Amino acid sequence: MERRTRPAEPDPAYEKFKRDIAEMTGVDLNMYKPQIHRRVHTLMASWGQTSYSGYLKLISSDINRRRAFLEYLTINVTEFFRNPSRWASLREEILPGLREIKAGNLLFWSAGCATGEEAYSLALLGLEARVPVNVLASDIDDGALKRAQEGVYREEQVKNVQPESLRKYFIRKGDGLLQVSPILREKVRFQRMNLLSDSFPRQPQLILCRNVLIYFSQESKEILLRKFSECLPVGGCLMVGNTEQIFGYRRFGLESAGPFIYRKTATSEESRERSACSL
Ligand SMILES: C[S@@+](CC[C@H](N)C(=O)[O-])C[C@H]1O[C@@H](n2cnc3c(N)ncnc32)[C@H](O)[C@@H]1O
Repeated sequence: MERRTRPAEPDPAYEKFKRDIAEMTGVDLNMYKPQIHRRVHTLMASWGQTSYSGYLKLISSDINRRRAFLEYLTINVTEFFRNPSRWASLREEILPGLREIKAGNLLFWSAGCATGEEAYSLALLGLEARVPVNVLASDIDDGALKRAQEGVYREEQVKNVQPESLRKYFIRKGDGLLQVSPILREKVRFQRMNLLSDSFPRQPQLILCRNVLIYFSQESKEILLRKFSECLPVGGCLMVGNTEQIFGYRRFGLESAGPFIYRKTATSEESRERSACSL
């Protein structure tokens, strides 16, 4: 006999848990893919909790548990110059074009910077190419941002940094640890930001939002891509992660500028009109 699967009924206890978490942390679990449910449960079980109310009590009464909860859900995996070939395209194909749209200091934004490796890589990109660059680096996770600001990394995390840059912009601390130098650090400003609810910086010439969109629902992704497009100047670029290709990028006023890189082509008004016409 044919078996039909019906969508699961929403669990009122889980719905309440999500509302309480949103109120407490500002993180709306509804905006993420449904798979986040599994992670919520794995952590709940590993803390020996069998009810949402006990789990919530732990999260609300202990700041370390709250941090651990957010860290576990948001996954901070990253490295310097992650996917080196993408960085070669940035250096060789994208950077020269960005210099043409703005004289003086460029603003690059690492949106979802985790522990800072991507943000410092952007600053190194500018230093190595002798292009004046300031970097805004944002994340929702305070613990990750704190580690990013300290800027201390293990030898294997900096394996993709050019040897000359390692000598120039890192200080050896012993025990295989390296710290970013003040010259590199002063190029980067870290800021807590929830991409799903906070306002965006004005007119960064380049946005890197890599390996963040994969966690969001389709609806949240659409909202985010529209917001990214609206804050870019014409000619500015958005780079996403290697599994995050944007389908229908023209709807957002973007054109392809290379694998996983998109360039803003029209003003936001024009792109809004265009998406209204294509509805
Ligand atoms: C896998 S890391 C990506 C790090 C880096 N961009 C890279 O590609 O190597 C994903 C980051 O997205 C952040 N994140 C998740 N949801 C977020 C949100 N709503 N607002 C801002 N950052 C968020 C997480 O805290 C995490 O640090």
